[in-house]
Amino acid sequence: MNSAPGHPPQPHSGALDAAGQPADRDAEALWRILTTRRDHRHFLSDPVPRETIERLLEVFDVAPSVGLSQPWHVTVVQDRGAREAIHAGFREVRAAESQRFEGERRRLYNSLRLEGILEAPVGLIVSHLPPAGPTLGTTSMPTASEYSVVSAITLLWLAVTAEGLGMGWVSLVDPAHLSDAVPLPAGARPMAYLCLGYPALCLDEPLLQTVGWGRRAPQPVGWL
Ligand SMILES: Cc1cc2nc3c(=O)[nH]c(=O)nc-3n(C[C@H](O)[C@H](O)[C@H](O)COP(=O)(O)O)c2cc1C
Repeated sequence: MNSAPGHPPQPHSGALDAAGQPADRDAEALWRILTTRRDHRHFLSDPVPRETIERLLEVFDVAPSVGLSQPWHVTVVQDRGAREAIHAGFREVRAAESQRFEGERRRLYNSLRLEGILEAPVGLIVSHLPPAGPTLGTTSMPTASEYSVVSAITLLWLAVTAEGLGMGWVSLVDPAHLSDAVPLPAGARPMAYLCLGYPALCLDEPLLQTVGWGRRAPQPVGWL
């Protein structure tokens, strides 16, 4: 399809793959990626080649965003000292969070593996960096700007899985601490620390399910 300005889109011709064939195999492959994607917290020490990191980050060039605003910034963190500082911040958040659970639940919480910041050779800080001026589509839902960052991260997770790597999302980090540990552009607010590397464990189900923290449940759907 010619997407140059002034060339209107042509009618959709059905789901075809890149070779113009019916896209059943694409669907099969996508479902395999969707169902094998896992949150990884254990990584091999093998480095991730720079070309691989660069290819994966191209996801941010094709991801959807409200008003085509691309309101994000990614910092690649390979430096061990920076990762140690981030890990120290994680330990503080984890200790505080543990207090929110009681008794046996707290004991189980304290045994959980919740990140791979030091093991994973690559960390990605994905920040929300809103563009100057108004963004189309954010009048009634200003948070659509942050949603855009989250949806791009989700696509990255799938691309990482397709490339045979593993990713772990760490939310037990204080955005202010991340900004102190790593220089970020003015106005950038960290939304995720992502651990990236070659996974050390093959996970057939969520690790939190395996260790008895919770279970995946079918989600209720309303039909009208
Ligand atoms: C926004 C977000 C934040 C998350 N933060 C953490 C985290 O800090 N530590 C952790 O171990 N897992 C974290 N996870 C991963 C979830 O625990 C994981 O997705 C869930 O247990 C299901 O497992 P699965 O992703 O392997 O299917 C996070 C996931 C999301 C979407």
